[in-house]
This record gives sequence, structure tokens and C-alpha cells, in this order.
Amino acid sequence: MVAVVAAVTPAVPLGYRQLGTQVAGHTFEASNAAAVGLLQDGRVFKPLGKPECGLREIQFYESLAAATSTIAAAAGDAGKAENAADNDLALLAALAEHVPRYYGQRKLVVNQREHTFLQLEDLTHGMAKPCVMDVKIGKRTWDPLSSPHKRAIEQQKYVMCKQNLGLCLPGFQVYQQEQPCGKTILIRHGRDYGKSLNVEGFHQALALFFNVQPAHANVPQLLREVLRQLHGIHSWFKRQRLLHFYASSLLICYDFDRLSNPSSQQNGYHHEPPVTPAIKPPDQWIRVRCIDFAHIFPAADAQPDENYMFGLQSLIDIVESMLQR
Ligand SMILES: Nc1ncnc2c1ncn2[C@@H]1O[C@H](COP(=O)(O)OP(=O)(O)OP(=O)(O)O)[C@@H](O)[C@H]1O
Ligand SMILES: [Mg+2]
Repeated sequence: MVAVVAAVTPAVPLGYRQLGTQVAGHTFEASNAAAVGLLQDGRVFKPLGKPECGLREIQFYESLAAATSTIAAAAGDAGKAENAADNDLALLAALAEHVPRYYGQRKLVVNQREHTFLQLEDLTHGMAKPCVMDVKIGKRTWDPLSSPHKRAIEQQKYVMCKQNLGLCLPGFQVYQQEQPCGKTILIRHGRDYGKSLNVEGFHQALALFFNVQPAHANVPQLLREVLRQLHGIHSWFKRQRLLHFYASSLLICYDFDRLSNPSSQQNGYHHEPPVTPAIKPPDQWIRVRCIDFAHIFPAADAQPDENYMFGLQSLIDIVESMLQR
């Protein structure tokens, strides 16, 4: 099996470790003790990064949490619930089911320095062999406050996929059964692989990620459930004119062990008891969520986020085409 994390050993508090399933984003660096990646302890801890990015991401999660509790409180009061139904709070609260659960901030000392982390649901929890793909959404991946230099850099990255599909692939990991020996191996690809892809290559990368070949019994179920969750996110974007998401990703996670063996009973998440009965519903072993909100902005002139919806629609089209093969 390929090593899951880079050979950097940061000094982290007892009980925490590097996020072994991290496939993209900022990571620990051997030569720079100030560079911090994601941690895990059953939940995921994301460092805040640059102050303006961290602030936007905290505000996003906090506003979702506030909207969710306001709407939940209103649900107990028939009159209020009716008034709240169409407003911005209800829309924000509806987004919560498409993002990782948020458990507040936590300060942790890493490499002798204190950092603030967002405490998030681990989207791979309960998965014995997590396959994880980070797909960045949108042709435009620079935000309205970016300098001309930053815009130019962003426009030159992942050009072929980004301009044609409004998608790019900063990283993924997938378990596969080697043929003909049947041994299970872990394959990991980073941003250099993603940057080398044209449209056809992007399709092939998705086919690899979804284990389309060799055929496993549950691949059609996997594709249908991914599509169902993608459609849920798309329908939220069609309704909303509040926010524009730049350089944000979809994280697609599923458990390789469920592809051919739906009754396997491993549950690696220590916050939850083992799930019974033996067969988990698909949304327990397949999760598609929006992540990375460091560049989220209020929608200019209350316009829909066409940039995001274009990329998301391409992804839906590609997954649909795999199902029809
Ligand atoms: N809630 C989560 N559950 C599981 N894995 C996660 C979660 N959030 C992030 N990850 C993993 O960490 C990676 C990086 O996350 P993210 O994109 O939020 O950070 P980043 O790109 O470093 O952030 P930024 O662009 O804000 O600096 C993802 O590609 C994914 O592998
Ligand atoms: Mg990211």
C-alpha cells in the first residue's frame, strides 16, 4: 500500500494526528514549521490560514449555525415558521445539510505555535477504506479582492479542465483491486496530476475514482447516490442569490469496502457506536459535501452563482454519462 501522508512529523497535541485522508490543500512542510495542515482526532481540524481567508470561513460556518438554530426555533412556532420559510435564513439553514457539521473553533499548539482551527465533521467517518476526491468548482477561481497578479496565476492553473468544464482536480485517493491478483492498493494523485488533465483525462480520472473498471456490484448505486447528492446541492444553488463561492470544492467520499461487500461492518469513528443493521444506507458510506469557504463573498447585485453552477452541471453530466455506459 502507498504511504498515506508525507514523511513530515509535526509536533501536535496528544490525541491528534495529521489528517491521513487529506488529498489537497495546505499541508505540513518539513522545512517550514509555520506551515500547518489539517488534523484529526475523530473530527477534522482545519487551520485558519491567512487572516482574511480564515475570517471569511469562520463567518460562513457561524452564519450557517446561527441560521440553523433560528430556523429550528421558529419551527416550534407555526406563525414564525411560515414567515421564515422564504427568507435568507431558511436558505442558509438549508445549505447546512450540504456542508460538514461545524463544532466551533479550537486553539491548538502545533510545532510550538498556537493556531486556531475550525472543528468539523470528518466526512470519511465510518469508512473503512475511504476514497476521497477534491473537485474545485468554477472557471473563475479568484475572488473579487484578488490582485491582478493572483488572477493571472489562477487563470493559468488547470487551464484545460477549468476553461472547458469549470472544474479542476487538486487531488484524490482511491482504493482499487489490482488485476489479476485481486490485492487492494491505494492510489493517490496530487495537483500535478490534476494539472496535466484535459477533458478526456478528467473523465478518465473520474472513472478511476469511481472504480468503474473492473466492475463492482455496487458501482451503479454509488453513482446514483453521488448524483442524488450533487442534484441536492445544485438545487440549492438554483434557489440562492446570497453568496458566490470562489475556489470552493466539492469533497466526494465513499467507502471502497461497500462496493462489493455491502454487509461489511467496520466503523472506524469513535464518536459513534457501530451502525446496525449490517447494511448501511447509501448516504452513510457515500458523502458529497461543499468544503473550503475561504473565498466566499456576498452575491454582487443578488445574481445567482452561475460560475459555480456551470462547473457543478459539468460534474453532474460526467457522472450521468458514466451511469449510462
Ligand atoms: N470535513 C472534512 N472531512 C474530511 N476531509 C476534509 C474535510 N475538510 C477538508 N478535508 C480534507 O482536507 C483537504 C483540504 O481542505 P480545504 O480545501 O478546506 O483546505 P485548504 O485548501 O488548505 O484551504 P484554503 O484554500 O482555505 O487555504 C481536502 O481536500 C480534504 O482532503
Ligand atoms: Mg481547498
